[in-house]
Amino acid sequence: MRRAVCPGSFDPVTNGHLDIIGRAAGLFDEVVVATGVNVSKNRLFDPQERLAMLEEAVRPWDNVRVAGFSGLIVDFCREVDAVAIVKGLRGATDYEYELPMAHMNVHLTGVETVFLPGAAGNAFVSSSLIKEVVAFGGDISAFVPEFVAVRLAERLGGR
Ligand code: PNS
Repeated sequence: MRRAVCPGSFDPVTNGHLDIIGRAAGLFDEVVVATGVNVSKNRLFDPQERLAMLEEAVRPWDNVRVAGFSGLIVDFCREVDAVAIVKGLRGATDYEYELPMAHMNVHLTGVETVFLPGAAGNAFVSSSLIKEVVAFGGDISAFVPEFVAVRLAERLGGR
């Protein structure tokens, strides 16, 4: 069984994340989508809400499950016996952000990071941009599952 972990904040999950998760599910026997429960960024959705949305979003794949983690991602990878971390790259900025973490994670436990190029149509899709657009009344329905768009509208309205 070759298992991979797809970690992230998922605040909230977007179609960009789901593109990467689905492709990882085709490469590995099992994928654990892991959302950090104690990372320091300001969040719109609490860990339980992010997990619930992820659970609904990954329903199409029977080899994908979701979990919360706290502490280091490498320790979580050991806990679930994962051989790799999978991350999506939208462009050079993502690469520069991700590369030091990938090196550090190899240093810490030897776990490798596999980078997948994000689908070209998702190059500008990020959770933070989506939240900003929703907050000012813009239409983000092309970039998130429908139920996530509903949750965003409930939480942020369209002010
Ligand atoms: O969606 P994000 O914000 O890019 O996710 C970042 C995340 C949560 C995957 C990353 O910050 C992480 O792995 N945090 C766990 C703590 C950790 O292991 N830090 C050291 C990384 S080398």
